[in-house]
Amino acid sequence: MRVLITGITGFAGSHLAEYCLDRGDVEVFGTARWRSRMDNVSGIVDDITLLDCDLKDAVAVRHCLLEVKPEYIFHLAAQSFVPTSWKAPIETMVTNVVGQLNIFEGIRELKLDSRIQLACSSEEYGMVYEDEIPISESNPLRPLSPYGVSKVAQDLLGYQYHQSYGLFAVRTRGFNHTGPRRGDVFVSSNFSKQIAMIEKGRQEPVLKVGNLEARRDFTDVRDMIKGYWLALEKGEPGEVYNIGSGKDVTIREMLDILLGFSTLEIEVRQDPERMRPSDVEVLRADNTKFCGLTGWKPEIPLEKTLEDLLNYWRERV
Ligand code: GDD
Repeated sequence: MRVLITGITGFAGSHLAEYCLDRGDVEVFGTARWRSRMDNVSGIVDDITLLDCDLKDAVAVRHCLLEVKPEYIFHLAAQSFVPTSWKAPIETMVTNVVGQLNIFEGIRELKLDSRIQLACSSEEYGMVYEDEIPISESNPLRPLSPYGVSKVAQDLLGYQYHQSYGLFAVRTRGFNHTGPRRGDVFVSSNFSKQIAMIEKGRQEPVLKVGNLEARRDFTDVRDMIKGYWLALEKGEPGEVYNIGSGKDVTIREMLDILLGFSTLEIEVRQDPERMRPSDVEVLRADNTKFCGLTGWKPEIPLEKTLEDLLNYWRERV
């Protein structure tokens, strides 16, 4: 089977590529830009085919689709950091929305019958009230960042292209996921890196934080990408599925777990720069629709995920 992963050099993309290779019957292709960092795929670069393709370039996308003719497409490439979307809202929209439209239009023009998974996001739910928790797929979407809005657009375009043209698009609303290779701007990875830096004496023993009261539903990336595979294998075209653990922790509780792995005395200090214009306060998935359909369940506990992430940074700083 031929599989195309957009964003293969990124965090989830590289884990998904390894999972596909482990399956044994999958030929893995991925899009990369000339400036993409290669460290996440350094261990598998000889086993995958990388195609030079910026998703904003419709011509490049069409060439890529023509070359690969994939049965499955996992569309993971995105501007995925929420704070950047306030600083660069247009870039966020173009990368996320136009990038996906280029793939959709390429599939249509070439008359491919690829199945495509769209990495949509729990950030689409945005403003959620306590009586709406756990959040089901039918909850209103009230995004609180340009990033969230871009994911709503991707999500609804997936619905619309299925309705209009019969495109086999499956929309996954992934809740937070983390683990080794997580980009260092995201909260769990940023805190882990800071702890590792402090342990190495490269940062004073002060850990800078933003909003610790927010609550998030964390899943290990290695569980999340199995969900992505199942979404294309067993998901209904046009449908939308939450993928998340169904449990939430405050960012403070997550930090406490990380600090518990270190023997040092570390002061925690709020940095006003890390506060957002509007933060999503709580995200917890109602995952019954997806789990019921596919049998998916998260297997790696949060403590193990965080320990692996901290050890990842200990080896790198
Ligand atoms: N990044 C960051 N850095 N976040 C912090 C910090 C900090 O120092 N301190 C507290 N936080 C809080 C944020 O305010 C937010 O409430 C929470 O930690 C998680 O922040 P991120 O890790 O940046 O992730 P996110 O929840 O905004 O978005 C992630 O999850 C989405 C799915 O819900 C990203 O991976 C998105 O791409 C993804 O769609």
